[in-house]
Amino acid sequence: MKRILAVMGSPRKNGNTHILVSRVIEGAQAGGAVVDELFLGDLTIRECDGCHACWKGKDCSKDDDMCAIYTKIIQSDVIIFGTPVYWYGPTALMKAFIDRLVYFNCPENRQKIKGLSAALAVPFEEDDPETARGVIEFFRKSLAYLEIKLLGQIIVLGVGEKGAIRSKSQSLQQAYVLGRELA
Ligand SMILES: Cc1cc2nc3c(=O)[nH]c(=O)nc-3n(C[C@H](O)[C@H](O)[C@H](O)COP(=O)(O)O)c2cc1C
Repeated sequence: MKRILAVMGSPRKNGNTHILVSRVIEGAQAGGAVVDELFLGDLTIRECDGCHACWKGKDCSKDDDMCAIYTKIIQSDVIIFGTPVYWYGPTALMKAFIDRLVYFNCPENRQKIKGLSAALAVPFEEDDPETARGVIEFFRKSLAYLEIKLLGQIIVLGVGEKGAIRSKSQSLQQAYVLGRELA
C-alpha cells in the first residue's frame, strides 16, 4: 500500500489546482493508496534563510509547520505537487515549501527520503503550453537534485476562472489515471 502526500500549493480552495489534484487523489485511492492532503495556505511555512542548522543535525530554526511535515514526507512513498502558474513560476506558497526541502540536502537527512517519488499537477490560464515551462523545469531540476523520481505530470492550460477546469474532462480523466499509476 502506497502512502501519498498531496501538497496543494494554490491559496484558492476548490480552485483548479485543488480540483485537479483531487482527481489524482481519487485515482490513487481507487488503486489502494492512503493519501494525506496538505493545504499550504492553511499552514505557516516561513522562508528558508540558509542558516544550515538542519545540516548540522539540529532541528530547523524556523520552528513552524514545516517541522511536522518533514516527518510526513519521510513516511511517504510519493508526493504530489500541485501549483498553478503564477508569473511563469510556482506560487510563493509552493516556492517556500520547496526551499525548505533543503533540509534533505545533507547526507544524514537525504537517506531518509531514499526511494521517494513525485508527480506534478499544474493548471494555468494562458493557451500556450510554453507558459508552464519554467514551473516544469523548476520541479524537474529540483527533484532530480534531491534524487526524487518524477513519475508523471498533468499540465492543464486555458483555465483561469475558479473551477474552470471542471470543463476539461479529458485532463481530469488523465489526472485520475495518473493517480491509479501512482498507487
Ligand atoms: C498572481 C497570479 C499570477 C498568475 N500568473 C499567471 C501566468 O503567468 N500565466 C498564466 O497562464 N496564468 C497565470 N495566472 C492564472 C492562474 O494560473 C490560473 O487562474 C489558475 O487556474 C489558478 O489556479 P487555482 O484556481 O488553483 O488557484 C496567475 C494568477 C495569479 C493570481
